[in-house]
Amino acid sequence: MNVEKGYVNAPIDASLDLRSEILRLKKERNAVIMAHYYRRPEIQEIADHIGDSLALAQLAAKTDAPVIVLCGVHFMGETAKILCPEKTVIVPDLSAGCSLADSCPADEFKKFVDAHPDHIVVSYVNTTAAVKALTDVVVTSSNAQKIVNALPRDAKIIFGPDRNLGNYIKSTTGRKNMLIWDGACHVHEQFSIEKLLELRKEHGDAKILVHPECPKPIRIIADKVGSTQALLTYAKESESSKFIVCTESGILFQMQQQCPDKEFIPAPPEDGTCACNECNFMKMITLEKLYNSLLYMAPEIKVDAEVAREAVKPIKKMLEMSK
Ligand code: 13P
Ligand code: SF4
Repeated sequence: MNVEKGYVNAPIDASLDLRSEILRLKKERNAVIMAHYYRRPEIQEIADHIGDSLALAQLAAKTDAPVIVLCGVHFMGETAKILCPEKTVIVPDLSAGCSLADSCPADEFKKFVDAHPDHIVVSYVNTTAAVKALTDVVVTSSNAQKIVNALPRDAKIIFGPDRNLGNYIKSTTGRKNMLIWDGACHVHEQFSIEKLLELRKEHGDAKILVHPECPKPIRIIADKVGSTQALLTYAKESESSKFIVCTESGILFQMQQQCPDKEFIPAPPEDGTCACNECNFMKMITLEKLYNSLLYMAPEIKVDAEVAREAVKPIKKMLEMSK
């Protein structure tokens, strides 16, 4: 078995019905399959649970299954493993990373934290386990506002690594003492305000849905800024029937599934190379990789025990403060 590239690269018999084989193996292994909303439609269709980053962490914390197959990116698998060290956590392609997590190397973040010892360290879940180990409380885009609001009014805060989410939370919570790490996600930074304004002109009746990882010029023209789950809920509950969606395009599948009579228009990236913005990391998990991961029970997520011992504290604090 070859896992050199981050996934099991073993040949698959072309006559196999992959969907039924995955379901059979899942039962045999007593595994639960979880997927993020940005995943390919065929992965979302076969998953037991689909959710945003917060929901996936909450589900991992409470599942009884001894095996979690997490069709998300690497940091999501790490979060599940840190919460459930006794379980086998598999991410079918370990090289599914995150540009935002990469924008915050732990050694540099440590220097920043050490230089501001009187600050509470709030880190977005899109970080490595080593960064979480330097953190006081983890947040996701679903709960960042609630958690920052719950900190003492005069607290000095470090917020990392996303500058867009950080600036958004700083303004919505009215915090003055917030130092923000200068990181960003390559997908959410790519939306073009000019193209978005053109789309809005074309579809005057559409509501604009924006993930808080987008820069301020995009956020300020939004009808709703929120996590993937919050945008989905807004679309479901809104009386509007048309939406322009400024986040990774995988969410459109779930929006269309849950609101079949509504229209969802993906906002295009700045370079105009395609009609929508895709996260290359989120698209790395295919049915073939999922099948092989269940067949060979690999590749497994491993987290250094010492790092995990520290990283679990701010993750558990987040789960506690999200209730
Ligand atoms: P959510 O927390 O909204 O699921 O977002 C995760 C993510 O990676 C956004 O790019
Ligand atoms: Fe990371 Fe951006 Fe991909 Fe989300 S969309 S996983 S933040 S690179």
